[in-house]
Amino acid sequence: MKIVTTIQEVRETVNAWRAEGLNVGFVPTMGYLHEGHQSLIHKASKENHRVVVSIFINPMQFGKNEDLDSYPRDLERDRQICFSAGADLIFYPSREEMYPEGFSTFVQITGITETLCGKSRPDHFRGVSTVVTKLFHIVKPDRAYFGQKDAQQAAVIKRLVRDLNLDIEIIACKTVREPDGLAKSSRNVYLSKEERAAAAVLRKALTLAENKLVSGERKAAEILQEMKEKICAERLATLDYVEIVDLETLEPVRCIEAPVLVAVAAYIGKTRLIDNFIYENI
Ligand code: PAJ
Repeated sequence: MKIVTTIQEVRETVNAWRAEGLNVGFVPTMGYLHEGHQSLIHKASKENHRVVVSIFINPMQFGKNEDLDSYPRDLERDRQICFSAGADLIFYPSREEMYPEGFSTFVQITGITETLCGKSRPDHFRGVSTVVTKLFHIVKPDRAYFGQKDAQQAAVIKRLVRDLNLDIEIIACKTVREPDGLAKSSRNVYLSKEERAAAAVLRKALTLAENKLVSGERKAAEILQEMKEKICAERLATLDYVEIVDLETLEPVRCIEAPVLVAVAAYIGKTRLIDNFIYENI
């Protein structure tokens, strides 16, 4: 497994693979890898001849008061995780490599980026879709792997690929969780011991919603109310949103008659966490 820092080195490596008739899977990340990322890399390595992982903390997707400067990093640990999960190449570019002086092109997807996380993080998805478009053009993968934990991000990337006719298959992968149900996240390291225990409330609220759906409840408002109460009862949690939305448009749904995404975002102390599940058994 190689680590390269320039776009040219990625292109040379991938072109050589292609000349041998090999196909390429791609896992974009911001590093500080955990079992969630690992599962994506592992799946990519099972489904493709070669796997590229990018590690780049993309400044464009962080808001002014967000955690860009404190975002955790550990390249040596990431290198080991990538290697053991089956990656062949790590692309670890500098900010200058990705955004040279005078950079002024953005990829903006409307509508589905304005709901859920888009409301409290207005420029976030513009940063995500811009960097992912660049990475797709640099790596030119056959398949790219995204976590269902970031459900809106996966939906945005699918829309990007569809709208701009990119010839890449997007594969959404199951959320990997801690034993108490908390979704694995690089940001979980910010949590104090007390906050870590409190963070399980996100999953608990989702389980509550799932149980209501299974028992036949179809009114979104009823389910959302109980979820809100559950989260607000946790002293260390501050709710950002709970929503039940259409899987494709991400528009709020009132009466649940087709598969939906049930999504939650909350601050635990100062750390913003998100989680969700898809309900399909209507
Ligand atoms: P990052 O947060 O590092 O996540 C990289 C990928 O890992 C994303 O597709 C994310 O959904 C997935 N992932 C994170 N936690 C997961 C979990 N618990 N289970 C399964 N998959 C999980 O998402 C980003 O980086 C960036 O926005 C990026 C797409 C790299 C663009 O900068």
